[in-house]
Amino acid sequence: MKPTKIQLSEKDIPTSWYNIMADIDFPMEPPLHPETKEPIGPEALEPIFPMALIGQEVSQERWIEIPEEVRDIYALYRPSPLFRAHRLEAALGTPAKIYYKYEGVSPAGSHKPNTAIAQAYYNKEAGVKRIATETGAGQWGSAISLACNYFDIECMVYMVKVSYEQKPYRRSLMEIWGANVIPSPSDQTEFGRKILAQDPESLGSLGIAISEAMGDAASREDTNYALGSVLNHVMLHQTVIGLETKKQMEIAGDYPDVIIGCCGGGSNLAGLSFPFLADKFAGKDVRVVAAEPKACPTLTEGKCEYDFGDTAGMTPLLKMYTLGHEFVPAGIHAGGLRYHGDSPIISALYEHDLIEAVAVHQNPVFESAVQFARTEGIVPAPESAHAVRVAIDEALEAKKTGEPKTILFGLSGHGHFDLASYDAYLAGKLIDYDYASEES
Ligand SMILES: Cc1ncc(COP(=O)(O)O)c(C=O)c1O
Repeated sequence: MKPTKIQLSEKDIPTSWYNIMADIDFPMEPPLHPETKEPIGPEALEPIFPMALIGQEVSQERWIEIPEEVRDIYALYRPSPLFRAHRLEAALGTPAKIYYKYEGVSPAGSHKPNTAIAQAYYNKEAGVKRIATETGAGQWGSAISLACNYFDIECMVYMVKVSYEQKPYRRSLMEIWGANVIPSPSDQTEFGRKILAQDPESLGSLGIAISEAMGDAASREDTNYALGSVLNHVMLHQTVIGLETKKQMEIAGDYPDVIIGCCGGGSNLAGLSFPFLADKFAGKDVRVVAAEPKACPTLTEGKCEYDFGDTAGMTPLLKMYTLGHEFVPAGIHAGGLRYHGDSPIISALYEHDLIEAVAVHQNPVFESAVQFARTEGIVPAPESAHAVRVAIDEALEAKKTGEPKTILFGLSGHGHFDLASYDAYLAGKLIDYDYASEES
């Protein structure tokens, strides 16, 4: 029998996170104060983040130890399996080998708990009683609800309205784990009320929801803010994905020629690829590709410049690829990829040609997701399906050229709460939007 799942045991759960900052040979531009536009120090983040996370945000240490309490909760679902996609390869008739690392085995159904658990732990250590956050597709909101539940922290989630309406059961899941969830824009914050006054029908966006959650956290002593992507400490926590995968690829006796991950803020792509980029910096030949939606093509069509992480302009200014903080993407079904910006480190790697990016439309994305479900069985999250599309395109290219390459992609989550979007696809109702939000 050909091996299909490459499994590790609990003792193989990484004991440290890998910090790519120790290995890059270009300077990173500092975050700037939103008003003075001067570089900010770590203390500027103290009102909304615990010091331990701020320390990780600016750390240059290559390895950062994972607390035992965090590893104990990781053990509920880690190490996650690496699959060899034998059936998909056969269906495509490709000479390429396809591997995928599956993060949908977490209780919340995606990679997001890898950082949520760590963030809740450090907030608990700092005595924080309540966390306010935003969620797009509901995956991050579910993950932080789960994590807050374990550390007995109250959780308030501002959920982007289009996803709140498309995915009512994500809300149920968050409520099961004890969170309070409201659609954003909401009438609960000053910024939400302002947006509603301008456009009562606003679909919301991650940028708007971030402003609401930050406004909430800034207005209450007992509350901190938590972000599910973009920031350095989030990229760091997600490296457990790639560290495990490296061991698993070694067991499989292979090494990837190309690594693909969908890219919203960049955390699952970072988590999977950064431990391999360490090899690239040491001279190894490996490509890394970000898969993003054509409706929100941050890397492929955005500009690399200082911009706010939220719509209201409350966050520090970050040097990143951005479509502009006021950009509201079309209501595509991959809610977690509807973000105007990208992680500064992913942006810098792209700017220095160390990673590539491809933008894809949602109909071909769902077509590949269905092909994947019919061969490999798992129904991908619409976000993850962007990586499936690009991996299939790489495999079809290998078929054309006859090149026997090894493809690794991140299947960052399952789509069990996204079946309405699959229904819409199967009924031929999905619209392909270009960046300008026009139908194409
Ligand atoms: C399943 C899944 N994959 C990917 C993403 C995109 O986020 P990131 O680029 O930080 O991995 C999300 C965001 O919600 C998600 O839910």
